[in-house]
Formats: sequence, structure tokens, C-alpha cells
Amino acid sequence: MVRGEGLPSLHMDTDHIRSQFPALERTHHGRQVMYFDGAAGTQAPTAVIDAISNTLRAGISNHGEPAASSRFSDAIVMDARSAVADLYNASPDEIVFAQNMTSHTFALSRALATTWTEGDEIVLTRMDHDANIAPWLRVADERGVTVRWVDFADYRLDPDSFSAVLGPRTRLIAVTAASNALGTVVDIPAVAERVRSLSPALLFVDAVHCAPHRSIDVKAWDADFLVASAYKFYGPHIGALYARSEHLAALPAYKVRPAPETGPDRWETGTQSFETIAGVTAAIDYLATLGDGETRREQLQNAYLAIGAHEQVLADRFLAGVAELEHVTVYGLTEGDRTSTFSIAVDGLTDEQVAVALADQGIFVSHGTYYAVEVLKSLGQTGLTRIGFVHYNTTDEVDAVLSALDALA
Ligand SMILES: Cc1ncc(COP(=O)(O)O)c(C=O)c1O
Repeated sequence: MVRGEGLPSLHMDTDHIRSQFPALERTHHGRQVMYFDGAAGTQAPTAVIDAISNTLRAGISNHGEPAASSRFSDAIVMDARSAVADLYNASPDEIVFAQNMTSHTFALSRALATTWTEGDEIVLTRMDHDANIAPWLRVADERGVTVRWVDFADYRLDPDSFSAVLGPRTRLIAVTAASNALGTVVDIPAVAERVRSLSPALLFVDAVHCAPHRSIDVKAWDADFLVASAYKFYGPHIGALYARSEHLAALPAYKVRPAPETGPDRWETGTQSFETIAGVTAAIDYLATLGDGETRREQLQNAYLAIGAHEQVLADRFLAGVAELEHVTVYGLTEGDRTSTFSIAVDGLTDEQVAVALADQGIFVSHGTYYAVEVLKSLGQTGLTRIGFVHYNTTDEVDAVLSALDALA
């Protein structure tokens, strides 16, 4: 990394980065594969893999015993809460681990719904992944709560469109920070501003797609809850929830009776996956190595600037190349605030045929709805093919996928 004079460096050494990801060496029919399916899960660097295996190797015991190996599991969880707190700009005691974002959202929706009464309202958006829709629909139905929808237009979610659906009975707004299907980045501070001025509602942010691409800031975003999954930001398969400490303390957790009555532990059902949690810290420490700074939070913020600059180069190159391909349609912003994740359709081929044709060449993408069912419905589509770039992808790889798409004409 080149150090700037008081400015964050935006240069990324892609070769050095790639050398840290063993999975990038995978071959398919003798060719090095290309992972453009980061939006469905990124690959993990050696530091993460080592953290997981070293945890199991070292000898680890469950919480609550005098054994040093028990204090080790305590330390792993505490360290990971601090790391996620730096990632989200929260406090460690506001971080809860669970299997994934979907599990967090189902658990929290059940707890929150106990505070709702018939005639209350919640707000959902058609830009969200179903994991930020279905849990809320379910509890709304159970409690007789009305669901108000916010649509997107021209691939954007206009913060003003929330104003029309907010009111004194609105209890919750569930919104994504970035669309896993369209790549659109949502202006969460602007949404929060509408929420605070027009309703007493709580703001739940899905940061799963945002986390590998953009810096998260629960304070600046004024979020009550936010959740992301480490396997989308180079870590292992586990989700981390932020909840304002007063909500964690006040809401009724679904827990077994002997489990702790206070703090995030109250929300973590059963025994946690300590080795996976150790991997979360390693993933965040890995991200922090990509930026300069005095603190891990500062390093992370600068890392995201570097990641954003690199991904912008990849996105611009892809958009310029794909614009030349008349048989390919991009469903998403061609300019403006977006991640480097693109949904496309190829004339004459189904989304699956495109994915299969690319996979045969070792080019790994996603297809279908990617669970963004409302997005696809709004677009009048049943399935698209998603090509996403993350910080370990290269311009050569972008050129390769463009050639492969060209050949599908
Ligand atoms: C934007 C978004 N939200 C939520 C989810 C669900 O995440 P998890 O698999 O951690 O439950 C995904 C997964 O693809 C996603 O992309």
C-alpha cells in the first residue's frame, strides 16, 4: 500500500491481495477460475482460515469455567464483538452473533412484534432481499399489523417515497443499505431523517450487501438495528447484529432460562461457534490491513475508500464493455451510487443458460432471483444473471467475462 501525505491511500496491490486468498488458485478444466459470485459469498483469506483452525487446534472449552481454555472462548467472543463494533461504529456490548442474517431477522422480528398491536404499521421496500421482508410479513400477519410498501423507481429508492407511508402508528422500517440484485446503494441517513421526523418507528438496516463494498456507520446512519454476514466480507458463515443497547436490554429475548439475563449474551441462543467467531475477527483485521490509520476503525474506513476506488474501476470497465454488447441488458444504475454488482439478461438465453455457459468456462456467477423476489417481480423478470466484482477481482477478469458474454451473442 502506498502511503499518502495525511491522505488515505487509494492504491490496492491486487497481486498481494490475491496471494492471500488460496481459493483464487482453484482451476476448472485447467483454467484459473473467476469468482464473480461474491454477492452470494466471498472467498476467505489465509488469516481467516488460520484463525478458525488455530482456535480448534489450541484447545477450547465452553464459557463459564475456570479453565484457561474456557477463558479462551470468552476472549474470542469479546474480541469479535470489538472487531464488529469497529466495523459498524458501535459498542462491543451492542453486537450479537447468530447463524446468519436471516436467523437474526427472524429472531428479532419475533421479539419486536411483541411490542406491536393491531392497527400498527410497518414499512418494507421492494428493493430488499427476502430475508428483510418475509420475517416481517410473518409477524405483521400474526399481530394484525399493516404493511406499507416503498417501491423503487429507475433502480433507486427515493428517501422521499418513505415520507408518504410514515405516520404515528409506524413501528418499524426495514430497509437495505445496498441491493444485492441491483447494486443500488441506498441513502440510509436520508431515510433515517424521514423516519425520525415523521414517525416513532425503529430503523432496521440490512447491511449484508453493503458490507464488502462500503463503510458502515450505525451512528451516522442513526440505525436502531443493523445486520451483516461475515461470509459476504471475507469471513466465515455467521451473522452479526447491531442493536442499540437499550433495545437489547428492553426487548424480550427468546432464550432458555439459565442463559444470561443481560447484554448481548441474552440474545445468543445456545453455544456459539467459537471458531467461526474467531474467523470474524480475522476477517475484520484483514480488511483493516487494506487501509492506514491510528485505530482499527480508521483503518477500516480508509480500507473501504481503497476498496471503493478499485471496485469503481472494475464497474466502469464492465459498464463500458457491456454497453457495446447489444444482446446484453443491464438491470441497474449505469451511473450514480452503486456497488460493483450487476444483474444482466442475455437475449435468447435464460439466466440459467448464461450461468451454466459461464460456469463451464470457470466463470462463477449467480442466477435466478438471489432471493430478491420483490426486485425481480418489480422488473417483470423471473430470473437474471448476477455478475459481481469485489476487491480481489481484476480488470483482466472483467475483460474475460466481457469476452465470454460477447461470445454468447
Ligand atoms: C442483501 C442481503 N440480505 C440478506 C441476505 C441473507 O443473508 P444470510 O445468508 O446471512 O441469511 C443476503 C444473502 O444473500 C443478502 O444478499
